[in-house]
Amino acid sequence: MSGLLDRLQSLNEQFREALRDARNADEVNQVHWFFTGYGGPLTKLLTEVAEGESPSERMALRERLLTVKQDLDNTARTLISRVEPGKQLDTRVTAWDPVQQVVSILRSARSEVAQITDELAAEALRTTYLGRKSELRSLLKSIGSLQEDERKAIGSASNDAQQLIADAIGQRQVQLESTRLADIAETEAIDITFPGPPIGRGHVHVLTQVQRQIETVLESLGYQVELGPEVETEWYNFEALNIPPGHPARENWDSFYFTPDLLLRAHTSPVQIRAMQRIKEPPIYIITPGRCYRRDAPEATRLPYFSQVEGLAVDKALTVGDMKGTLLYMIQSLYGEERKVRVRPSYFPFTEPSFEFDVTCGICAGAGCKSCRHKGWLEVGGCGMVHPQVLRNGGIDPEKWNGYAWGFGIERMAMLKHDVDDIRLFYESDLRFLEQF
Ligand code: DAH
Repeated sequence: MSGLLDRLQSLNEQFREALRDARNADEVNQVHWFFTGYGGPLTKLLTEVAEGESPSERMALRERLLTVKQDLDNTARTLISRVEPGKQLDTRVTAWDPVQQVVSILRSARSEVAQITDELAAEALRTTYLGRKSELRSLLKSIGSLQEDERKAIGSASNDAQQLIADAIGQRQVQLESTRLADIAETEAIDITFPGPPIGRGHVHVLTQVQRQIETVLESLGYQVELGPEVETEWYNFEALNIPPGHPARENWDSFYFTPDLLLRAHTSPVQIRAMQRIKEPPIYIITPGRCYRRDAPEATRLPYFSQVEGLAVDKALTVGDMKGTLLYMIQSLYGEERKVRVRPSYFPFTEPSFEFDVTCGICAGAGCKSCRHKGWLEVGGCGMVHPQVLRNGGIDPEKWNGYAWGFGIERMAMLKHDVDDIRLFYESDLRFLEQF
């Protein structure tokens, strides 16, 4: 396309030269059509543009040709208005109008591309300008009446425009992405080698904590943890513990039955029997924590399900003093050395003698306050010297051995430790409560 500018220059001069003799509008129109119409030199140049090197270079040439064409139009128009005022310049459908349209579509696409700020908008523009329903596509459908080489010229212009629009969108996307990355680098400074936030792991439930503390203290005295089934037989839950059918004490341990012989254990005491049967030869020092069940309606102080920790010692010549000392040590280890303990006479079918076991109130230190109902003492559970019949039921000779046992409520012990006044709180899974411990 070298020399195009020269050719345009001489074309311009020839055009003016040819117009010099035009006397009326018809003659001007003839000359104008000869230069700019189909087959004329200017239109020829337009069809030759396709030989340009790159889409952008070809577009630049088309724009140049359009300017010259407008220039020639204006010259012709001015001349007509001079030689024959009132007459018009002939305007026929030529390749120029569609090419002009292609050029202006390209312009508006470029200015829209420059304004987008995100990926979504980029994709939207791609559909608008390059999609099946784009202006360029419908333009191509409307040029059927033009000559073939003109149609080719427009097709080529339209292809170039599409190419240039796609390039512009692509470049803008690259630009947006690098701005985005630069912004992130500046504001967020992601360090991908930095360890992630720790996963929330929760913690051991307060009842389990208390149970484990009890286990730790008693293990340090040589006791072993022994577990038993929560579904228990009538014999272990009652008879072996000296509570025969019809015994009035059964009412205290009314539980849930699967069959007349099978029930949810009402206390951890049956594990005493199981432990003696398993270990056989004293000395036996065990504790047995676990879940128990009773037919009680839920209230502030009781639930139909709860936990106990039972203790059993079988040895030679054990005394109430041994028992009390052990329990005193356990209580003071858990609650602090300022706590005092006491035993009160009571009754359990499986111990003789039997006691209730009390601990001084932690809030008033024994003086009496609202939370201990002004008694100064809080009850933790029962204890006593193991009944000879219970030893026998466990397969142990009461002539040679004796023992002591206790059964404390774990919830009760946790309430004592943490001054909780409603047992139901332990089972409501309310994190505001649980997270305190
Ligand atoms: N099993 C009794 C209850 O659930 C508690 C108990 C009292 C256990 C005295 C014992 C004991 O081992 O000696 O109420």
